[in-house]
Amino acid sequence: MKTLIQNGTLVTASETFAADILIEDEKITRIGLNLEADTDHRIDATGKLIMPGGVDPHVHLDLPMFDTVSSDDHYTGHKAAAFGGTTTAMDFVVLENEGFDHSVDLWMKKAEKAAIDYSFHMNLTRFDEKIAKAIPSLMDMGIQTLKVFTAYNGRLRLDDGGIFKALQVARDNGMLVMAHCENGDVVETLTAQALADGHTEPIWHALTRPSWGAVESSLRMAAMAEQADAPVYIVHMNAGGEVDMLQYARERGVKVMGETCPQYLFFSQDHLSRDDGAKWICSPPMRTEQDNAKLWDGLRQGILQTVGTDHCPFYFDGTQPIVYEGSEIAIPGKELGRQDFTKIPNGLPGIQDRMPIMWTYGVNAGYMSANQFVAYTSTNPAKIFGLYPQKGALVPGADADIVIWDPEKQVRYGVAHSHQRTDYNLYEGWELTGYPEKVFLRGKLIVDGNEWKGKRGDGEFLKRSEGMIL
Ligand code: URP
Ligand code: ZN
Ligand code: ZN
Repeated sequence: MKTLIQNGTLVTASETFAADILIEDEKITRIGLNLEADTDHRIDATGKLIMPGGVDPHVHLDLPMFDTVSSDDHYTGHKAAAFGGTTTAMDFVVLENEGFDHSVDLWMKKAEKAAIDYSFHMNLTRFDEKIAKAIPSLMDMGIQTLKVFTAYNGRLRLDDGGIFKALQVARDNGMLVMAHCENGDVVETLTAQALADGHTEPIWHALTRPSWGAVESSLRMAAMAEQADAPVYIVHMNAGGEVDMLQYARERGVKVMGETCPQYLFFSQDHLSRDDGAKWICSPPMRTEQDNAKLWDGLRQGILQTVGTDHCPFYFDGTQPIVYEGSEIAIPGKELGRQDFTKIPNGLPGIQDRMPIMWTYGVNAGYMSANQFVAYTSTNPAKIFGLYPQKGALVPGADADIVIWDPEKQVRYGVAHSHQRTDYNLYEGWELTGYPEKVFLRGKLIVDGNEWKGKRGDGEFLKRSEGMIL
């Protein structure tokens, strides 16, 4: 099967240029002006932008949490991703008591319904000699990344000694540690005090997880990485001070990279004081408008490396079903914590929103160039996570994961427009200019305007090898 996309403007992480692009089966085979070829399909992309499919490095699909599960699975979440221009997503395997093989098998089973390409990170939530010895086996499985937590005491957190040893093991095996940075002890103390004082409203989620904890923990993580001579990637950076810490460490040659997410660029903890404040509950929490501005600066100046989503959706009111692909479905959600903020499932939707929102409110608003947009949402995650140039690139030989982007398309965005399986959208009513028109996954057209042409099982597991340090 050959498809020729003609007359478009290619936008990569470094260049913008007019060219045609030829797809043969699953691959891009030629790029150039006025290409001639015998083809099955021709698409006229006059006035459109051609970009590599988005790579979302941070999602949580079908993740059990408290007494429920994140409401998008590997089909619904992937379908939503595709409508937003993302063709690769990486989610996190929960480490079960039985060990890595068993845990990865469980996640492989969940992902059999994948609709876009995917890979996994391993949550390293226990550390001992047995686990240390088993870590290299993850590389054989194509899992090159370990997530560690400095918060969630007694559940997910490793102590600093465990994190330091994990960094050393990762270094010796060409792996990358990803770090969730908050101060777990401070969070636990403030949470217990808040509950004892009768504070149960959503705003207390933010008040008990202060940004200084994220700031010092980010610097601590960078310092440990330097002492272990290992790279580290700090996920969901949310506080302006974290950008300062990242800059401080990077200027001193520390191999530390940072990811932020759209929610930390647009919202503040004031949103948690609203009647529907639970919609904005995730960890780490929203901060202040000053933090939003500092994170934008971090993107503009290239101090940060990626924009992921941390997509981990829950219904706002999971007692009420929504209609998804013709069937009613209700999944318990944020209402579980109506009486107690600590019982509100942590996480929010974003996998479809990321690219359209960042385009209108990042590129069109002048905060970043179109090339930076491609770098942050596609090329840099592909490079860091060992997928480049198979993913994140428009070059002959790359997978034909391609977005034809209509920069003029006007959309009034919100839950009705989104395919994320939840009953709300953080960007309800936001006006967008620019939206994906067609999305190809390895040469197959999976989104055509409003039409879904993908299916369960279209997505393939991506075995990853050592990535780049940016
Ligand atoms: O609230 C969030 N972000 N839930 C997902 C888990 C995590 O720490 O990324
Ligand atoms: Zn996290
Ligand atoms: Zn996460």
